[in-house]
Amino acid sequence: MSSYSIESLEQYFKVYRRSVQKPKKFWGKIADENFTWYQKWDKVLEFDMQKAEFTWFKNAKLNITKNCIDRHLANKGDKNALIFEPNDPNEPARTYTYNQLYTEVCKLANVLKEQGVKKGDRVCIYLPMIPELAFSILACARIGAIHSVVFGGFSANALSTRINDSTSKVLITSDGGYRGAKTIDLKKIADEALKNSPSVEKVLVVNRTNQEINMQEGRDLWLQPLIDQAESTNVAEIMDAEDPLFILYTSGSTGKPKGMLHTTAGYMVFTAYTFKNIFNYNNDDIYWCTADIGWITGHSYIVYGPLLNGATTVIFEGIPSYPTYSRFWEVIEKHQVTQFYTAPTAIRSLAKEKVEYVQKFKMKSLKVIGSVGEPINEEAWHWYNDHVGGKVCPLVDTWWQTETGGILISAIPFVTPTKPTYASLPLPGIKPVIMDDLRNEIEVNQKSGSLCFDFPWPGIARSIWGDHQRYIDTYFTKFPGKYFSGDGALRDEVGYYRITGRVDDVVIVSGHNLGTAPIEDSINQHQAVAESAIVAFPHEIKGNALYGFVVIKEAGLWRDQNNLRKEINQLISDQIGAIAKLDKIQFVTGLPKTRSGKIMRRILRAIAEGGDYDFGDTTTLLNPEIVEEIKTGRIAP
Ligand code: PRX
Repeated sequence: MSSYSIESLEQYFKVYRRSVQKPKKFWGKIADENFTWYQKWDKVLEFDMQKAEFTWFKNAKLNITKNCIDRHLANKGDKNALIFEPNDPNEPARTYTYNQLYTEVCKLANVLKEQGVKKGDRVCIYLPMIPELAFSILACARIGAIHSVVFGGFSANALSTRINDSTSKVLITSDGGYRGAKTIDLKKIADEALKNSPSVEKVLVVNRTNQEINMQEGRDLWLQPLIDQAESTNVAEIMDAEDPLFILYTSGSTGKPKGMLHTTAGYMVFTAYTFKNIFNYNNDDIYWCTADIGWITGHSYIVYGPLLNGATTVIFEGIPSYPTYSRFWEVIEKHQVTQFYTAPTAIRSLAKEKVEYVQKFKMKSLKVIGSVGEPINEEAWHWYNDHVGGKVCPLVDTWWQTETGGILISAIPFVTPTKPTYASLPLPGIKPVIMDDLRNEIEVNQKSGSLCFDFPWPGIARSIWGDHQRYIDTYFTKFPGKYFSGDGALRDEVGYYRITGRVDDVVIVSGHNLGTAPIEDSINQHQAVAESAIVAFPHEIKGNALYGFVVIKEAGLWRDQNNLRKEINQLISDQIGAIAKLDKIQFVTGLPKTRSGKIMRRILRAIAEGGDYDFGDTTTLLNPEIVEEIKTGRIAP
């Protein structure tokens, strides 16, 4: 077990050196000693970076749910696998032991089979943060169906696009979902989506809110009666190491979302190993990650990583501000949480409230606190460290992406000294490099460039669903022979990495990964709009917020600008979801463009951010006069 668990800095350096010198040996040993296989591999790794082809644990056979559930039953059958904390603190929490989880997953797996779902079929899951979301994921994995979870905050249009891209056969949803004081009409949104999604043959509906919904005969079925009748055991499907496990959509620089494809064995080994080390997981711990399972953080570090380690993982349905700003801290005390993993945006929103909300709680159970999703600024880091971690819990700033499957750069608690705003050191087996625009490696310290990786790790995505060329073009072409993350980073004298933000057209708002292109596409559908450009500007709580520069077609439509702003935001809300709404919309008569017609976002970004407007060279612009007009009309904070 020694290489599975890193206990000291010396050991980390030793393991790291060995892992990058002999990665196949390193990952082979981890895989060999810590998992259950029907059949082991012929080869640990075959790959071709240029073609973006990766085969980990070639020809091995396994089922990930045997590793998440079955193998724990003998010793941990009565241990809690899940603790469900509902949105309303007055609703009792629910727990599921590993034995109960086994039964729930097997029953649902049998229901899916009865509904005609076979190995390789896609199942779309559109659910609130309830235990059935975890059961659904695991039930798919049990029978070899590919799950495609769509975050419950997405609109009908976004849901429909994702169902169609993956040609999902079954949709699992619920009547509604609770979120703070609001109820979200999930089934109603799903009905709307399904008008344009003919691949869906059956809709399985979880009863969560008891609200009135429409059930279409022949298509829609309540899940509970089917579960009640289902067999409570299920023989897990035998999967190949490289059989697809799931698709998860992430934003890209074109309007179409990218369905990142993850496969079975590599993802399993990588999420299990990173979870164990980054959260210093020990047997009696109660681990809580506040993300939604609809994002990669929830897939890897609420469901798979914790369960693979036989951990107890909390599923929280609510939000940090409901019914009060103490909700997170109350839940930590209530369930005696030992590891707490959240996003900087949540920390910033709580830090702006009265400190009493957090100070009332000692949170003595906490051991490790973590951050994910965007750079954590110094102020938020200290607030989190002081008030939540009580200055004694290591704060791990974990850097990774939907594409990477699991964490690549992070401190290991009680091992790596932490440094505010630095994600710190790469995990074993991970080889970061920082590249300049001329494709040379930046060797000097404190100079930022593009964050790339030299060698594959087991959790790397294998493709974009249905479009392998796009996968190659997006991640493996700009820096040949390397994986390009799309993020900027620098390294300090000690070798610690600091992430400086995106270097492409993706913006992180409140920790959500949004492409500017799909938002622009939505805005441009408004009849009054000729053209638009979205950029990010710094926001106190959300990290970044969106600023839209919008060119209007006809002057007559300018009259009620505020109404137009509302309509544009409504359009974005309908097409993508409320998370992508713009904070500021400035109407302009043109956008600064190069002679080849490319929008100069650099200039728009400088205007949106304010300050002293260092535009750099504008002489190459097609329309330099527009810059002054836009600057004058800037919407101040
Ligand atoms: O820009 C980085 C930022 O989030 C992006 C990945 O977003 P997504 O695929 O939605 O996954 C989010 C959860 C893993 C990255 O390209 N990001 C994530 N973690 C950090 C971060 N930026 C800085 N520091 C982090 N710790």
